[in-house]
Amino acid sequence: MSGMHRGGAGRGWLAALVVGILSGCSGTEGPGPGDVDAGVDPGPDALPCDVQAVVAERCAYCHTTPLKGNAPLALLARSHFQKPSAVNAGQSVGQRSLERLGDAAAPMPPKSEPAMPEAERAVLTQWLEAGMPAGTCGSLPSGPAPTTCASDSFWSEASGTGASMAPGYACRSCHLQQAPNNAYFFMGTVFPSLHVADGCDPRLGSPSNVKVELLDAQGAVRLTLVPNEAGNFMSNTLQPPFPLPYRVRLVGPGGRSREMATPQTNGDCNSCHTEQGASHAPGRIALP
Ligand code: HEC
Ligand code: HEC
Ligand code: HEC
Repeated sequence: MSGMHRGGAGRGWLAALVVGILSGCSGTEGPGPGDVDAGVDPGPDALPCDVQAVVAERCAYCHTTPLKGNAPLALLARSHFQKPSAVNAGQSVGQRSLERLGDAAAPMPPKSEPAMPEAERAVLTQWLEAGMPAGTCGSLPSGPAPTTCASDSFWSEASGTGASMAPGYACRSCHLQQAPNNAYFFMGTVFPSLHVADGCDPRLGSPSNVKVELLDAQGAVRLTLVPNEAGNFMSNTLQPPFPLPYRVRLVGPGGRSREMATPQTNGDCNSCHTEQGASHAPGRIALP
């Protein structure tokens, strides 16, 4: 198990983003170009600061590069919103965004995600309705997201094996090899955010007041697992305790929830919910 300890690079980036949001960097839209012809004049990529913060929080963890969460396009820059839509060539992606923000049947963000606060919805709606004027805060970074570790505390081999070991690593895959008697069907880690580094102690608190609800194909809750302080949770049987496939509803300490819409048959959650997300997952199993 050598090489499992990793440093938490990129904390500076997160701090900068948080400071930007807290300082209410807004009202810097500058003169708007009015009606922008979709695709004709992409113009500067810079988003207004308040718009950028909302897009980062509510859209860009799926609509990023590489794409995550089965999203079909990136929404990181103003020019991404100005492009013609592939769904309706007469509209820009921004106009589609406006429509989907108000589409009760098929909303963006999708129903699986926590509801968007009205103030944030207003920021995005007003900007889209105003024709997507350029701002001063630049575009969002593309490519892999920097990993974080707020606690700055990492599990290491010296910390030993057991229920708090190796947060973020693919538990069951390793156990099938090294600890087959403990290769429980459902195993994984809940983190406070999407790109927490392998091995980082998330310090969820005890009790965590977090629930991982495993749903069957009919959507009924068949098993509820509670993560420990290290964010780790596991079922207590080696075989699936109900017929597969399964889905997941993650309920946070405040009652907000987030669902995995895609039915799955592999219970080794962290094998997809890696630092950057594998097999289309957006990243970690992150608190709603
Ligand atoms: C959890 C992942 C996720 C988040 C968060 C998310 N989307 Fe999407 N988005 C998708 C998926 C999946 C699709 C393709 C399926 C569909 O159209 O419903 C999509 C499609 C779209 C499309 C293209 C389809 C169309 O109707 O033109 C737009 C535009 C869009 N999203 C805008 C947004 C905006 C704006 C936000 C943030 C306010 C957002 N999305 C948040 C996953 C996400
Ligand atoms: C790289 C390999 C590896 C990974 C990854 C790993 N484990 Fe382990 N785990 C082990 C080994 C080895 C043991 C010790 C088995 C023994 O003592 O027989 C163990 C033991 C355990 C035990 C203790 C069983 C007992 O004695 O009660 C638990 C619980 C456990 N692991 C949970 C997890 C969880 C949860 C994860 C993922 C977050 C995980 N492990 C990730 C290798 C791993
Ligand atoms: C084979 C890959 C895979 C496995 C295994 C997997 N997931 Fe997922 N998960 C995904 C994908 C892809 C998404 C994004 C699309 C969606 O919501 O279905 C996702 C989304 C989620 C979400 C919503 C996240 C968000 O930000 O929208 C949660 C919560 C979640 N998974 C929990 C779990 C848990 C808990 C397990 C293990 C019991 C698990 N997942 C196992 C691929 C996987």
